[in-house]
Amino acid sequence: MNTARLGMAVGAVVVGCGIGLGAAYMLDLFPGTTDRTVSASNREGGPVAAFSLTSHTGEALTAQDFSGKYTLVFFGFTFCPDVCPTTLGDMASVLDALGDDAALVQPLFISVDPDRDTPEQLATYVAAFDDRIIGLTGSKEQVDAAVAAYGSWYEFVPDEDDPEFYLVNHTAGVYFMDREGRFVRVFSYQTPTEEVVEGIRAIMREDAAV
Ligand code: NI
Repeated sequence: MNTARLGMAVGAVVVGCGIGLGAAYMLDLFPGTTDRTVSASNREGGPVAAFSLTSHTGEALTAQDFSGKYTLVFFGFTFCPDVCPTTLGDMASVLDALGDDAALVQPLFISVDPDRDTPEQLATYVAAFDDRIIGLTGSKEQVDAAVAAYGSWYEFVPDEDDPEFYLVNHTAGVYFMDREGRFVRVFSYQTPTEEVVEGIRAIMREDAAV
């Protein structure tokens, strides 16, 4: 890992949530993946969906369980003050705007704070946005493996005044993966709903034409 670049990125992070970090960090790890033209022929070489986690209903799930569906994958934590609630709200809007096509799209919220984000905590949280969103948590090792597979990133930010209320900086983009678990693109933080929907539908049309 390029620690100099990572250090620079970390320096730019807004405490609490990694605004703007997602795209830049993706570019470091997977050159060209965020700005390349998206098509079926170049969905190789980027991250591949891989995780083994526990859902907010207590079910053991792996990336293979979502084979055949498009996934929108977001890493965060339920105590996040801003980026996570905003992003999950945006995900709910995308699902609504997709109409019937939403049945083909599975949003996944993977916690990078498994100590606090128990399945029960996640269940309450995701239900506040849209009950189609699946919250995922696990052991630190399981979470770290998922973070590594997607090329995501997080870091704990201790609160020196109150150790109970630490924050977690994390990537802010949403990973869009195709039905075979291949990386398509990142939707950066606060991409307008219409743009996300069109980005998803463009891939659906392309896959339908193959
Ligand atoms: Ni957050």
